[in-house]
Amino acid sequence: MNRYKIACLFLAFSLLAALVWLVVLTNSKTEVTNNEQAVIENILSRKSVRKYTDQKVPREKLDTLVRLGMSAPTGMDVRPWQFLIADSDEALQKLATAMPRAKQFETCKAAIVVMGDTAVLDRRGNPSTNWPFDCSAATENILLGAEAMGLGACWVAVYPYEDRLPFVKEQLGLPANVIPLCVVTIGYPDGENQPKDKYNPDIIHYNGW
Ligand SMILES: Cc1cc2nc3c(=O)[nH]c(=O)nc-3n(C[C@H](O)[C@H](O)[C@H](O)COP(=O)(O)O)c2cc1C
Repeated sequence: MNRYKIACLFLAFSLLAALVWLVVLTNSKTEVTNNEQAVIENILSRKSVRKYTDQKVPREKLDTLVRLGMSAPTGMDVRPWQFLIADSDEALQKLATAMPRAKQFETCKAAIVVMGDTAVLDRRGNPSTNWPFDCSAATENILLGAEAMGLGACWVAVYPYEDRLPFVKEQLGLPANVIPLCVVTIGYPDGENQPKDKYNPDIIHYNGW
């Protein structure tokens, strides 16, 4: 092989390597953009769904939703939460009995009870006062996860309502230190459910009131 052929081969190889590098770079940039768009769409399309089909929700999806809940931000990283997955007829019936006015329990196929644990102490040895906020953040993660999975979900408040709280605690046999913030009812959506557009530029303040 003469020098000219070697130079041509080298040039061709370099061009090919540059092309591969360019394709990889372009793809990774697209991935980041797609990921950002996917997260934005997930949040904007979340909505409360209160009526569900007969389709069961796989246990592994519920476990993933609880995992998402536990990845929420939590004051001083105290994590003062507990989660109860209800996917048996018996457990769901107990929740329905505790909250007879919540129509979601007529059709939901599963529920996750998000609970604060007041026995969990912070770094200074005090019971967490942040548990309602931490559990709320966990609940939102669960709702967004459900949306991403094609599930319908709804936040059903328990705390601080006296017509719900003691009944949910009693039905589920919760210890005194465990306070249910809410029940997220879950199932595959029955019918059309549209997200509400709540965007209001009038309530945004830049750099001061
Ligand atoms: C703190 C809190 C308590 C809620 N409690 C209930 C409830 O008890 N029952 C219910 O059907 N929906 C409940 N929701 C859902 C709201 O009604 C719903 O988020 C609101 O109407 C806005 O609709 P969207 O979720 O579709 O955007 C609750 C939501 C939050 C954040």
